[in-house]
Amino acid sequence: MAYNNTFIEASFKRQVDRLPVWYMRQAGRYDPEYRKIKEKYTLLEICKQPELAAEVTMLPIRKLGVDAAILYSDIMNPVASLGVDFDIVKDIGPVIANPIRSAADIERLTPIDVDKDLSHIMETIRILDHELQVPLITFAGAPFTIASYLIEGRPSKSYIRTKEMMYGEPALWFALMDKLGDMVITYVRHQIENGGKAFQVFDSWVGALAPQDFKYYVLPTITRIFDELSDLKVPKIYFPGVSSGELLPTLHEVKADIIGLDWRVSITEGRLRLGEKFAVQGNLDPYVLTAPMDTIKEYAKDIIDQGIQSPGFIFNLGHGLFPEASIEKLKELTDFVHEYSEQAIRA
Ligand code: CP3
Repeated sequence: MAYNNTFIEASFKRQVDRLPVWYMRQAGRYDPEYRKIKEKYTLLEICKQPELAAEVTMLPIRKLGVDAAILYSDIMNPVASLGVDFDIVKDIGPVIANPIRSAADIERLTPIDVDKDLSHIMETIRILDHELQVPLITFAGAPFTIASYLIEGRPSKSYIRTKEMMYGEPALWFALMDKLGDMVITYVRHQIENGGKAFQVFDSWVGALAPQDFKYYVLPTITRIFDELSDLKVPKIYFPGVSSGELLPTLHEVKADIIGLDWRVSITEGRLRLGEKFAVQGNLDPYVLTAPMDTIKEYAKDIIDQGIQSPGFIFNLGHGLFPEASIEKLKELTDFVHEYSEQAIRA
């Protein structure tokens, strides 16, 4: 099988024959085979076994026919190397043993040591680099999103303690952003050196901020991350997460290639807000997958019709897949995006 480079081509805004597609959380519980593996091992246990983690990464490539793989890992994994004790708890998410609230807590965070603490993840990447016929997207959690777990101690709806530190103790906040920014830069560089072909910075929860707060408290660190990684010749994705439409006009200076959109802005409107520079990725509401197939296709068509208006579009969801999603519908959707976009591009 020939190497499928469509994702890379679209990332750099080159003309493609058909649109590339991949799904956030494409390695996951909607797949019975994955659920079987999860009966034996936790997420963190899978990540510690490079052969198995590589196998899990490849499941959706074989089953769905997507155009990119995303490393099976979690945004919390590198945080262990900073000295943070956490677990990923079933039906909750990341839970931190000792949430980070004080200057002393932040001072205790050590610099990331990839060789010592994350060699298993680098090994998984090397295996995948050898096995895959599609690009491997590696990733890191963005500083705000990681900070929200570290400070709240668990998933939050309000981000009350996170905002309390941000507004009340800005020096602490920026010290934490600096440390997490350093973590992202070092971790991503290692991932690409070990065979990652693109990377995504997941800022899943930063849409909780007003645009002016995002600009002041978060954007400088995001800008620094992409500046310091700008020598890497791979597609760089920033995903500002859910409800991020109002943040898009602030991203002009970020040296990313692709911005991930959620479904609350259309592809056309997202491009207008972002300007010419970026390719865009998105943005089907994952819960549209609960609809009948004809309805799903209508939504996909609308996204594709907008996406192909200019080069630089990657079909994805606006957020991660949920466990109840149907694997059959996902396969049909993937085929539909390929077939419909090929016809539409040719026309
Ligand atoms: O397929 C892929 O996308 C690759 C693997 C991946 C996971 N997490 C595995 C995982 C990726 C890219 C992530 C990123 C991640 N992790 C994000 C950013 C993306 C997003 O959804 O916004 C966030 C916020 C996390 C933190 C996290 N990890 C949460 C909130 C949860 C619980 C949510 C849930 O559905 O239970 C996790 C656990 C997690 N990470 C699961 C998976 C497949 C589900 C539980 C499991 O299978 O063990």
